[in-house]
Order: sequence, then C-alpha cells, then structure tokens
Amino acid sequence: MTDYDLVVAGGTVVTASDMYRADVGIVDGRIAAVGTGLRGQRTVDAQGLLVMPGGVDSHCHIEQLQAGGGADEETFITGSTSALAGGTTTVITFSTQFKGHGILKPLAEYRRRAAKAMVDYTFHQIITDATDEVIFNEVPQVVASGVRSLKVFLTYDPLHLDDRQFIRVLAAARRTGALVTVHCENYEAIRWRTAALLADGRTEPKYHAWSRPAVVEREATHRAIALAEMVDQPIQIFHVSCPEVADEIVRARARGLKVWGETCPQYFVLSADHMDRPGFEGAKFMCSPAPRDAAASEGLWKLVRDGVLDVVSSDHSGWSYDSPVGKRANGTGAPFRDIPNGVPGLGSRLPILFSEGVSKGRIDACTFVRLTAFNPSRLFGLYPRKGTIAPGADADLVLWDAAKRVTMTNDLMQHIIDYTPYEGMEVTGWPVTTIRRGEVAMKDGIVQAQPGSGQFLARGPYDMIRPTGNVPFGFDASTFLV
Ligand code: URP
Ligand code: ZN
Ligand code: ZN
Repeated sequence: MTDYDLVVAGGTVVTASDMYRADVGIVDGRIAAVGTGLRGQRTVDAQGLLVMPGGVDSHCHIEQLQAGGGADEETFITGSTSALAGGTTTVITFSTQFKGHGILKPLAEYRRRAAKAMVDYTFHQIITDATDEVIFNEVPQVVASGVRSLKVFLTYDPLHLDDRQFIRVLAAARRTGALVTVHCENYEAIRWRTAALLADGRTEPKYHAWSRPAVVEREATHRAIALAEMVDQPIQIFHVSCPEVADEIVRARARGLKVWGETCPQYFVLSADHMDRPGFEGAKFMCSPAPRDAAASEGLWKLVRDGVLDVVSSDHSGWSYDSPVGKRANGTGAPFRDIPNGVPGLGSRLPILFSEGVSKGRIDACTFVRLTAFNPSRLFGLYPRKGTIAPGADADLVLWDAAKRVTMTNDLMQHIIDYTPYEGMEVTGWPVTTIRRGEVAMKDGIVQAQPGSGQFLARGPYDMIRPTGNVPFGFDASTFLV
C-alpha cells in the first residue's frame, strides 16, 4: 500500500534544530509525514544527500518596475529559474512607488507580472513618497491584501525618505501590523563625499566604496533604530555589511527592541578591492552598502552564529554588465555615481553560504537552514507553511550534495544577467534537486517548473512583529493620523 504521492527517501533531513535520517512523505503538495519506511506512488532517492527546506530569499529585486516604464532585466520567469536552480523555492520581491504617485496601481501591475513566477512569492511595498493619501488610505489596503512589509530607503535619489517621512511609514506600519525593512545609509553624507571625490577626478568604480564608508551605514542604522524605538515599530535592517553596523543591532536588542538584521553572501566573500579591477570591470561588484574588507567579512560569521544577523538573503539585483540598461547604461567611462548598483545572487546564495559556512566549518547545517529558510520565513509571516520540514508545511525541499565540488560560472546561475561576480569561485556543496510544493521543479540543473506555477503568498497578521507596547511617556502618537 502506498500512503503518499511522493516519498523523498533515505536522506538526512536538516531543519533549524535537528539533523537525522528520515523519509519525507508528501500528499497534495504538503508534507504529510517524516519518518522511516514510508512508501509512495513515486520515490525520489535522497541517499547520501541532505534534505533541507527550500530556500526563502526575502530580499530580491525581480522585474521591479522602473520610473518611466519598463522593469529590471530579470523577469519572474528567469528569476524563478535561477532561484530553483540554486535551491530557493520562495522569494520576496519589491513593489515600487514613484514619487508623486500612489502605490495601488504599481502593485496591481506588479502582481500581474509576478503571476508568471515558478517559485512562490510575496512582496515588500516600497514607500518613496509618504503622502497622506498613501500613508492613511493606500498602505492599509496594501497590507490587508497580504503585502505585510514596507520597505524604505534612507539614501538614493529619488528614493530616499527624510526622517519625518520615515516616521510616518513606521507609524503606518504600527497601525496596520506590518514590518518595516530599511536600507540604512546617510543620504547627505554620501552626496557630500561623492561631490568631493568627483571634484578631485576620482571617478572609477573603486571610489564607490570611498563615497560610502561604514560610518554612513552605522549612522543611518543607529537613526533607523532610534526612530523605530520612538514609534515602537519592529524593523529589519537590510544588508548589514560589517560588525560595526551590527553592533547597533546588538545594543538595540539589549534594550528589548524588536530589531532584526540581514546580511548577504557578497559581504562574506567580496571586498572593496574587487571594485578596483582594471577598466570598468570593478562595476560588476558595485552594490550598496559597499563590500568592506576581509576582517569585516570574518566578523560577520560570528554575528550569524550568534543570531544577531539572522537572515542571509541575496539582494539579487537585475543589472547586466553589457546591456544598455545595465552597468554600462551611462557608458564605460561613467563616474561611479552614475553606475547602477547591485549584484546578482539568487542562484549563488545557497551554494556560497553552504560552502563558505558549512563546508569550511564556520556554521553547522542547522544554522544554514535557519539563516536561509527558517528565520526569513518566521520574520515575514510565512511560517509554518515555509521554512521547515514538518507535517503540514508545504513540501518545498532542496536535496543537497554536500560533497559536490563546483566551479561557479554564469551559465550555472541561469539568470538573465550576463555575469556573476563569483565567476570561477570553487564551492563545495550543491543543490541537485529542488522540490516545490511536492513537484520536482529542478533536477541536475534542469528546471522543469511551468511558468505561472508559483503562488502568491498573502501574509496575515502574526505575533512576531507585534509592537512591544513601550512608547515614550505611555503616549502612542501612531494612533493619530499626522
Ligand atoms: O546595491 C544594491 N543593494 N542594490 C539593490 C537595491 C538595494 O539597495 O537594495
Ligand atoms: Zn538596499
Ligand atoms: Zn535590495
């Protein structure tokens, strides 16, 4: 008798807390049992492999709408392909706002585009213009539709918010039960240093790092936390690049604040020196905050072990090196200020973290699962449907060959971007099969999921992001529409 549609048999199941030999029985796309001797209509042999929850990448820029029409080069089809090839089954991407406009229309258009996805997906809502209409009327509708996180930039033209606008977003999130995620860099400090560097003729990509030293990230992180503390609104600090920034999170948590920190593979393996490659080559490694140095990277490992930084996302950004809309959009002689930021990383996130972390003995496999699937799933209200291997959860699994050695190439990434910053990097550990809601979506690098088979994940209220209730003088200013 067969009890299951599919059994993943004989592997080593890894969750955020345990690692043990077991079969996984799947019915109707969900995990029905974890045990031994399970029999199904179909079997996937996982002998010798790790069986981990499919990756949850909670920060990736896919087909993001651009001002003036169009979108990022990476589409939901190519982005999903890269995600599945790299063992990721769920993504959180970004619906945008353009200054002077609302958020409902772009969200509707973005949902239409995302319907082609082959991974499950949900969105963060970017706020770039905190008008009364957006904050009081549209944000509540967007959150009620299941988009339960707001994203703000404290730098970048034309995206950045000033302190007053940021406070209004924090208050709107508190009223509606959403999480706020923050890109922390000081806008004016970067502008000032950039103007001076350009005045001195220092235009090459390497000066991107000079324009935004760690102190500008630390200052903005401190400010974001302080304002969130005043409003009593939980936040996640995006892409923490180094320990001196993470220290702000340590201090906040010691005061009992709900502040979480994310980092990304680029901050473990890239440094400012990569932007000093000859010619325009350094542009391939330009992202914000800028990668720092080897000591900063090594320090991040302790922070992920300690749980200060509890999510590792890709911050996958869809800009090719050679395309007219990509890194060379303003020519190969463009000053660093005019080169699009961001590095691709959807397909490389899990292999890099596993190889540099687990294979090199810096973290164990359970920590890897916590950072890449369990914690993002909990923080963004997707748990227990995503991020774990337990009865009732979606059967999103990655079967991982921990011994497989691979030289990374752009072809293996299967994204639309024409390069990977990790070309030629040797990794140990590789995804060999990805199962999404019980379907084999990738096997041996061949992605076989159908466009449109991904599902939108509407996120309802959840406890983890409930405010603490501690507001200055006991006066909750967020209840007033000001
Ligand atoms: O340089 C980066 N990270 N680009 C993507 C947009 C962002 O800041 O997250
Ligand atoms: Zn950012
Ligand atoms: Zn980003």
